[in-house]
Amino acid sequence: MKILRLENVCKSYGETRALDMVNLETTAGEFMVVMGPSGCGKTTLLLVILGALQPDEGHVIIDGEAVDDLPMESRGMGYVPQDFGLFPHMNVRQNISFGLEVKNTPREVIDQTVKRMLSLVQLSQHSERRPSELSGGEKQRVALARALATNPSLLLLDEPLSSIDEATKTHVRESLKKILKEAGATTICVLHNPEDAFALGDRIAVMNKGRIIQVGTPQELLEEPRDSIVKKLIATMYV
Ligand SMILES: Nc1ncnc2c1ncn2[C@@H]1O[C@H](COP(=O)(O)OP(=O)(O)O)[C@@H](O)[C@H]1O
Ligand SMILES: [Mg+2]
Repeated sequence: MKILRLENVCKSYGETRALDMVNLETTAGEFMVVMGPSGCGKTTLLLVILGALQPDEGHVIIDGEAVDDLPMESRGMGYVPQDFGLFPHMNVRQNISFGLEVKNTPREVIDQTVKRMLSLVQLSQHSERRPSELSGGEKQRVALARALATNPSLLLLDEPLSSIDEATKTHVRESLKKILKEAGATTICVLHNPEDAFALGDRIAVMNKGRIIQVGTPQELLEEPRDSIVKKLIATMYV
């Protein structure tokens, strides 16, 4: 199980300081939720961990080793982008199996995994459809299945439940947590819905304006919200 640590990470886009001295450490196998207002730097944080963006300052450290010079492909992380990033010319089955095919996984392992993933996201009926033939929520579930199929030890999820309707959500949420715990994956997951965050997060990191303002278990945030932004997030759960 991997431990991820961010040390004094800064990232600016021109004048915009998207990440401002971010320090964050997970435990092994932890499900860490990242929350905060739109534009506070959540996606940038994931892209820096992934290696798609170089930080201006600071380090990304996995199991005690800085991975700053390691390209994205060599970091072996699973990633579900905010816009799903599905391959439009491939059907659902092909999208899910892609990561395993490129690793020359044996055919029967691929078939088994795809079957398990399709059932996880409740899309077994739609395995031959292309992304253009799916709803937003269905596409999002395919993106999740695709990221989980390769069994990554570090998983980065950018609002993975935002388009999933309430009827499917409870199932996806519970199976997601179960699968990740079984696989021993360490997960950083951006969520905007406090109910999802509190249901999924072992701990929640609350961000504002490029900074992390509080990290704690759902219980700790409820009992001792340290800032008005944290209080506001919690308040929205009860309206
Ligand atoms: N490629 C980019 N070029 C310029 N500014 C950007 C770029 N990406 C993000 N930003 C800005 O950086 C800040 C953080 O963005 P982002 O990480 O996407 O926030 P979030 O995911 O929390 O909504 C925002 O002010 C956003 O407008
Ligand atoms: Mg974002």
